[in-house]
Amino acid sequence: MTGATGVPPSAPVLPSASGETGARPVRGTAFGHGKVILIGEHAVVYDQPALAAGLSLGVTAGATDGTGRLTIPAWGLSVRAGDGSSVGRAFGALLARLQVDDVDVSVEAALPSRSGLGSSAALAIAVARAIAQARGRDDEAARAAAAEAETVFHGTASGIDQAAAASGAIGRFRRSEGWREVPVLQAMPLCVGLTGRPRDTRAQVEAVRRLRERTPVVTTVIEALGALVAPAERALAVGDIDDLGRLLDVAHGLLAALRVSSPELDAMVHAARAAGAVGAKLTGAGGGGAVIALAPGHERDVLARWKSAGFEGFSTGIGGKLEWPL
Ligand code: MEV
Repeated sequence: MTGATGVPPSAPVLPSASGETGARPVRGTAFGHGKVILIGEHAVVYDQPALAAGLSLGVTAGATDGTGRLTIPAWGLSVRAGDGSSVGRAFGALLARLQVDDVDVSVEAALPSRSGLGSSAALAIAVARAIAQARGRDDEAARAAAAEAETVFHGTASGIDQAAAASGAIGRFRRSEGWREVPVLQAMPLCVGLTGRPRDTRAQVEAVRRLRERTPVVTTVIEALGALVAPAERALAVGDIDDLGRLLDVAHGLLAALRVSSPELDAMVHAARAAGAVGAKLTGAGGGGAVIALAPGHERDVLARWKSAGFEGFSTGIGGKLEWPL
């Protein structure tokens, strides 16, 4: 995906006809969207609301008859259900939930893994839906199986990544209320920058939990993150990108207070602002992973600034279709 700078992400493609599954007919295919969290990561674990946007980039899974193998060439992965690897364990849990053991799944991934863009949730939902289609299970069963896999990956996952992966739109998510799409006046371009440092969601969520236990006043930071969601929803509804940008900036400061930012993330946020972004923040679990920047008319400047600092990035559209190139 790096190298997709300013270029529309290509349409999802079916799994290639190479490798073990090549000769067998594909019985089910499904797509899972990558995502960015606009506001509310970490706070969402504590039942605060959050806003996320599905990306057109994602993963496509194809299920064939087989014996429980999952291959993801782009991530250099080939696992068996239930083997010692985390992906193998997650795949095993997903198959067990669907009560299926006679499929192989091949995945085309256009998202980098462990980059803060929801790759594991996109993988889980695409794989679960492809198998459900292949074996006649309904979407509720597929979502439950994907949630099972996410729990193996992330422990206390709030469910926001999975909801965004399944929807692809911009939505508000709250643990106790679930996902609902929010009205958006106009699609907007968003710059996504990659630190190149893999993030570990489970470790970051655990670190915030410990911080909150030891320093109870941190709860007010978590509540403040949640309080940004209503004004951000209003900004999206009326197309006020400047206001949304300021809210992203506030969110980044609050996430830094939760100690989930890093020198690279801070550097990328400051570089984006210096290049004309109206707002920028880390997105996802932090510690590494990705940043997002709203920079209407300055997308190329932001990407160039990141590149000269040694960071890859790309621009994409959220909230609807955009004309490309920007
Ligand atoms: C990760 O994309 C978002 C976190 O809030 C974890 C979660 O909600 O499961 C950090």
